[in-house]
Amino acid sequence: MKIAEILQQAPNQQQLTVKGWVRTFRANRFIALNDGSCLSNLQCVVDFEQTPETVLKNITTGAALAVKGYLTESQGKGQKVELIVEEITVVGAADPEQYPIQPKKHSFEFLREKAHLRVRTATFSAVMRVRSALSFGVHRFFQDRGFFYVNTPIITGSDAEGAGEMFRVTTLDPKQPKTDEAGAVDYSEDFFGKETNLTVSGQLEAETYALGLGDVYTFGPTFRAENSNTTRHLAEFWMIEPEMAFYDLEDNMNLAEDFIKSVLQYVLDNCKEDLVFLDERFAKEEQSKPQQQRSKMGLLEKIRFVVENEFVRISYTEAIEILQQSKPNKKKKFQYVIDVWGADLQSEHERYLVEQHFNAPVILFDYPAKIKAFYMRMNEDQKTVRAMDILFPGIGEIVGGSQREERLDVLQERIKAMGIDEKELWWYLDLRRFGSVPHSGFGLGFERLVQFATGMGNIRDVIPFPRTPQNASF
Ligand code: 4AD
Ligand code: MG
Repeated sequence: MKIAEILQQAPNQQQLTVKGWVRTFRANRFIALNDGSCLSNLQCVVDFEQTPETVLKNITTGAALAVKGYLTESQGKGQKVELIVEEITVVGAADPEQYPIQPKKHSFEFLREKAHLRVRTATFSAVMRVRSALSFGVHRFFQDRGFFYVNTPIITGSDAEGAGEMFRVTTLDPKQPKTDEAGAVDYSEDFFGKETNLTVSGQLEAETYALGLGDVYTFGPTFRAENSNTTRHLAEFWMIEPEMAFYDLEDNMNLAEDFIKSVLQYVLDNCKEDLVFLDERFAKEEQSKPQQQRSKMGLLEKIRFVVENEFVRISYTEAIEILQQSKPNKKKKFQYVIDVWGADLQSEHERYLVEQHFNAPVILFDYPAKIKAFYMRMNEDQKTVRAMDILFPGIGEIVGGSQREERLDVLQERIKAMGIDEKELWWYLDLRRFGSVPHSGFGLGFERLVQFATGMGNIRDVIPFPRTPQNASF
């Protein structure tokens, strides 16, 4: 039986077998056993006189055990029930001289180097259970609303975001790729007969499906070769991208807000024990920071605040006005001072708006066309596009989305102006030729959502095996 289930039982001396890993072994008598099913350990009480020495010496932190016994009310404090052990089998010993995860506080940096074992700690197991629940919450939200889950390709021949930060996929010999007369690599010799990359977004393909299935969403791995060594960037991350036919930007913002609230409510309802633990961990970590850098709210408080309050919605233009009037801008405290309309917002500006000015999640919309992707719908003013970003406290940008340009001529003009080769996008343009409709969608970075829900400061600690510049171990 799983420990999560055992801990729900009334202790009636019932016989049980439980299998898991030793967290601690105290006084040759008390094993704290964990099987990953929940945060809590099951206390297993050993009679060391009845237990062979060969078994006893292998009950060490990290060892795998199968324990048979009966469930009673616990005599000690800290747990309601405990298992009185009748028989122990050591399934897999863990040499205590070598097992790196000892029952003491390890730094997250240290644990990143032991990423294959870190899920055996309380913090990482809690984070990964919350991550799992969030992803179920994502599917539930969309499936309940009649959206279809589509799987867009991971290897692509198009650059959806036009940012060019892609990982090449090739079977050409890196030492001697065939080249043409001009010395350029001849991709006609490559596996796909053309240049291909790992996808930076499933959006363009999702759009084709929205214009047939109506409302769709993707949820898959996404790759970006940007050399950003920050606590919020991964080279491989998971993105959720809904795409809806007949939605305008307002509908899109409404859906995004409902979506985030729904998945957070889902974990509040289903991950209580883990969230209470992570809330305490978060509070301790905040305590160790200087006063001004501390979060104003606790973890659970932050999640509830987001679920219960309306997101602030302001245009890019209004945001620029607020930022220009702000103290850090006037005193030149921002690294990038905002002096003109049209400036791209840096994370310091986003954080100012969210954490200082509004103290709430903010949806910014109608950005300058110049700083956004080619596919966003042009506004009447010919200057701004129907883009929207959702900014979160402590995270910054969590969602990026837009209403898409559905007018063929306008889109062709934009593609040309941005220096993109129209031929590459023939199929995307076909959508505007045959039964084009207004449509919208957005992308939510799943790891950033997991960070928000778990209070983890570094994105490397919310994905099992992070890929970042100079690091693809495991
Ligand atoms: O704003 P982005 O680049 O938008 C798109 O890719 C659109 N095609 C989405 C759409 O409209 N369907 O990325 C969307 C989100 C960001 O807001 C951020 O949360 C996350 O993806 N993201 C990253 N997360 C982790 N590491 C990175 N390097 C990320 N880059 C973007
Ligand atoms: Mg973005």
